[in-house]
This record gives sequence, structure tokens and C-alpha cells, in this order.
Amino acid sequence: MKKKRAKELYTLADLQNWSHAAQRVDPPIRLGVFGDPVTHSLSPQMQNAALKESQVAAQYARFQILPNELSEGLCLVRAHNFIGLNLTVPHKIAALEMVDDCEASARRVGAVNTISIQGEKLCGCNTDGRGFARAIREEFSVDLRDLRVLVLGAGGAARAIAMQCAQEDCERLVVANRTFEKAKSLVEGLRHFFLGPKVFGPVPRLQAIPWEEPAFRFQIGNLDLIVNATPLGLSRSDPPLLPARLLAPHLMIYDTVYSSGTTPFVRAAIEAGARAANGLSMLLHQGALAFELWFGREAPLNAMRNAL
Ligand code: ATR
Repeated sequence: MKKKRAKELYTLADLQNWSHAAQRVDPPIRLGVFGDPVTHSLSPQMQNAALKESQVAAQYARFQILPNELSEGLCLVRAHNFIGLNLTVPHKIAALEMVDDCEASARRVGAVNTISIQGEKLCGCNTDGRGFARAIREEFSVDLRDLRVLVLGAGGAARAIAMQCAQEDCERLVVANRTFEKAKSLVEGLRHFFLGPKVFGPVPRLQAIPWEEPAFRFQIGNLDLIVNATPLGLSRSDPPLLPARLLAPHLMIYDTVYSSGTTPFVRAAIEAGARAANGLSMLLHQGALAFELWFGREAPLNAMRNAL
């Protein structure tokens, strides 16, 4: 029988009718990413390169899954003998309540970005934090413990990044979020990491700030790294994250968005004389850690990097 190519995008309806949707797709789809939106995700090309290089007879596909479809989608991939999944916006936090087991990495952060399916069990993990730390080391040759960091956002990705900064004992951590209460609650959960007096001077080591220009302006001189952990910049119609006049040459800017090569935030940072990188390196490293969870062997990092 003739082989069929995998589709660019699958939906819950495909999972409900999987024997038809996946019929003759070879190698079979046994991994994927759930998200909404998800069409921009480069995980399939990166993970398929890794699978090929490692001679694993399986494919990784993209699934457009709405928030109210997540629970059924997870049950269906388990029934269809999947090896694992990645989760992206907006599923990372909701999935925590839907997995059977949770690794400490996911429990601490309160979000799941990787699921490994072991028999009947969905095991939730989070590779975002460690992937982020590796990306920062690779892009800027610095360790988080030496940095004063502003995280923009308080969702799943932001929580993983903030937790990683806290665990690596960064100099300072500031969290800003459109919904201020969420920034405050994220910061409160990290308070015990920041009891030691590391920075001398008028600014607190750990702080939540409102998403307002005066609050940002006040912080800039006491920051080294600004991280965008919101989806802002994914869509062309998105407003700028921060006013360009706030960006200064001493800053390092890391944009977890990686949609279009140079993201608007990276472009604005470079124009201001700052060093900047988009989220491809974090995608790569969190993806390599996910591959290692699924297969218990080292990920072929070069093949994955070349595919991106
Ligand atoms: P993820 O799991 O990828 O982090 P998420 O949990 O949905 O996704 O979180 C998205 C983050 O981006 C949130 O911090 C959100 O702010 P709110 O908590 O106020 O919702 C932030 N975000 C999304 N759209 C935004 C926008 N237009 N302006 C500012 N922040 C935005």
C-alpha cells in the first residue's frame, strides 16, 4: 500500500478518528506538540531530524488543540500508543492537573511542557527552565547566578524561567505581568530563595512590578537581562513589548518568541545597542531534554540545531 505523508496540522477530530487520519503514514506518528496557536511551532522539524538521526521509526506532528479539548486529546494520544508530547501555549498550566504523575521539575513550576507516556500513565515534566539556562549560557556566555533579571510574563514559560533563575541564585529577579496579581503570586512563591543579601543598594532582590512604563523605567539601571516570556511578538499586529526608548546598551535581551528570525523585540534591542537573541536556542535545548526523557539517550543536538 502507498505511504502517506504526515499532515502539517492535525486536530482533535483527527485524534478521534486516528485509524483513518494516520492510516499509511510511515513512520507512524507517535510524538507531537499540542498548542493553540501551534502552526508557528518548529518543534516538528527539530524533533523529526532527531528521530531520523537516531534511527527511531516514529514521527512528530503538530496538533491544534483548544483549551477545552486538552483533556480528551491527552486520553486519545495515550490510547493511540504515543511515546510523548510537548505542550505549548495555552496548555502548560492546565496540563498539570491532567497528568497521572508529575516530576519535581513540573510540580515546582506548576506547569508541564513535556509528557512522557509510560504504559497507562501520563508523566508530566518541565524542561523549559533548564533549556532556558543552557540557552542563556550559549547566547551570552554568562550564568544566571551573575545576573539581575526581569521576566516579562507570569504564565507557564515565565514560571519555569523565574524558578530557574531562583534555583541558580541569580543576583536579582523582577517579574512584570499584565495581570499584576499573577506576578505577585509568582514572586511570593519564590521568596524563600531570595532571603540572602546579595545586592547592596536601594533595590529589593525579588520584586513584582506592574506592567507600566514608569515601573519599567525605574528598573532598567538595575537589570542585566530582560526575558520576554509572553507570546507578544508572535503576531505582526502585536504592540511592542517595551517602549524602545527604555532599551539600553548594557542590557541582554532574550525573547522566547522565535517566530520570524529577528523578532520585533530583538530588532528593537539591537537598534538600541543591546545584545539580543530570540528563542530558537531555548527551543533547541528544551527539545533536546525532552528527547532524552522520551528515549533515555542523548539527543543528537547538532542534527536538531541544523534542522532549525
Ligand atoms: P505560556 O504557557 O506559554 O507561558 P500562558 O500561560 O498562556 O502561556 O501565559 C501567557 C503570558 O503572556 C501571561 O503572562 C499573559 O499575561 P496575563 O497573565 O495578564 O494573561 C501574557 N500575555 C499574553 N498576551 C499579552 C499581551 N497582549 N500583553 C501583555 N502580556 C500578555
